[in-house]
Amino acid sequence: MPPNVIILSHPVIQTKLTELRDYTADHRKFRELLNEIAGLMVYEVTRDWPVMPKPVQTPLERTTGQVLARQVTLVPVLRAGLGMSDGVLRLLPEARMGHLGVYRDEQTLEPVSYYHKLPPDVADTEVLLIDPMLATGGSGTAAVSFLKQAGVASMRFVCLVAAPEGIAALHAQHPEIPIYCAAIDRQLNEKGYILPGLGDAGDRLFGT
Ligand code: PRP
Ligand code: URA
Repeated sequence: MPPNVIILSHPVIQTKLTELRDYTADHRKFRELLNEIAGLMVYEVTRDWPVMPKPVQTPLERTTGQVLARQVTLVPVLRAGLGMSDGVLRLLPEARMGHLGVYRDEQTLEPVSYYHKLPPDVADTEVLLIDPMLATGGSGTAAVSFLKQAGVASMRFVCLVAAPEGIAALHAQHPEIPIYCAAIDRQLNEKGYILPGLGDAGDRLFGT
């Protein structure tokens, strides 16, 4: 297992991932599963986040509970990362959202950044960078670099399927960034698609 990579092997996540891989899942089913898996993953990804005490008045008496200590920013990589957003927001409804538009050039497989919009105080928040696929690692690496330039100190990369090549590329430049995934697949094919993978996540999600 590569260092700083966490595989979420929960049986429910694995069951839904297997359904997601199935080529007969249409965009409605794909969308539903992607959000469900993202929600289940975020429960594990946030397990060790810091909390702080908060007084609360119950119907019977005053006590002290615990709440997340830091604000959260969710940053999907467009387009396919959007397919995980609702699932994460269901658990973290207070999170702000940033957006990073990155696609990979079909010929060179190099990432092309075309849009970015982040909350002004993103640097002071816990960031979850989400994208279902980590293939060559070009898009993920570019997204992490951009967030670091924006001052983000604490971030986690959450994907569904990672290729060994993508993990190596992202960690070659950003070894301290934890990568959470549901599976590490075998390899990339000659067109940079993950094998066995689940195909083109953006196309399957949006029906394009
Ligand atoms: C997919 C995916 C990642 C990227 C991974 O996006 O959502 O962002 O490919 O590949 P990489 O690790 O080799 O960079 P895509 O480029 O297809 O853009 P789209 O979601 O807008 O279709
Ligand atoms: N992007 C995808 O959507 N799927 C892959 O297998 C690789 C990159």
